[in-house]
Amino acid sequence: MRELTYYVGVSLDGFIAAPDGDFSAFPVEGDHMQALLHEFTDTIPAHVQRLVGLEADRSRFDTVVMGWQTYTPALREGIDSPYPHLRQVIATRQPREVPAGIELTDDPVATVRALRREPGTGVYLAGGGAIAGALVDEIDRLQLKVYPVLLGDGVPLFRGLGYRPLPFRRVSSRPFASGMVLNEYVRS
Ligand SMILES: NC(=O)c1ccc[n+]([C@@H]2O[C@H](COP(=O)([O-])OP(=O)(O)OC[C@H]3O[C@@H](n4cnc5c(N)ncnc54)[C@H](OP(=O)(O)O)[C@@H]3O)[C@@H](O)[C@H]2O)c1
Repeated sequence: MRELTYYVGVSLDGFIAAPDGDFSAFPVEGDHMQALLHEFTDTIPAHVQRLVGLEADRSRFDTVVMGWQTYTPALREGIDSPYPHLRQVIATRQPREVPAGIELTDDPVATVRALRREPGTGVYLAGGGAIAGALVDEIDRLQLKVYPVLLGDGVPLFRGLGYRPLPFRRVSSRPFASGMVLNEYVRS
């Protein structure tokens, strides 16, 4: 069974974006960027790969799953297929028009369970908080890019979870001079 990994940038107080979706409070400069670009190239949108001269090889992830609200901001920039190097699955309960090659699901739990039984490398859960909340029981691994900033309010790491402790085991914790700490956990 391959793994579902939620790889996401998060503030010290557990938010992945501002209330309006902005995440410019998370720095894109500093020594953490080299590690993220080179070790997580599969998670870099294709237009950014071209800008920085990298090419994803699907060795870490070959599939991305995201919620509709994570997919739509790029549409405003004219990007309707952000990860063409991956199989792209988008969760929505609405009938939506998407380009050929992008798959929609109204049952992300069933879709992820089916994906995990298929051969391949990892499945990248890109977020946001709502789809992460829906898929919380399917997540095998967390890769949390914890940025040294408080947002005070915003999009939570997981939406819609009531109080229900779910233990994870820390695998690694990598501090960067920039202040970002990459924390990796697996479900215990
Ligand atoms: N910091 C980071 O690394 C990072 C990463 C990813 C996203 N983000 C931010 O997170 C924000 C989006 O997060 P969000 O929580 O608002 O939304 P989201 O999880 O991206 O998308 C929510 C939408 O996904 C669909 N959905 C969610 N659960 C579903 C289910 N169980 N079945 C079927 N469809 C389901 C619904 O789409 P319909 O309404 O179409 O039915 C829902 O409105 C954005 O601002 C984005 O920038 C940040």
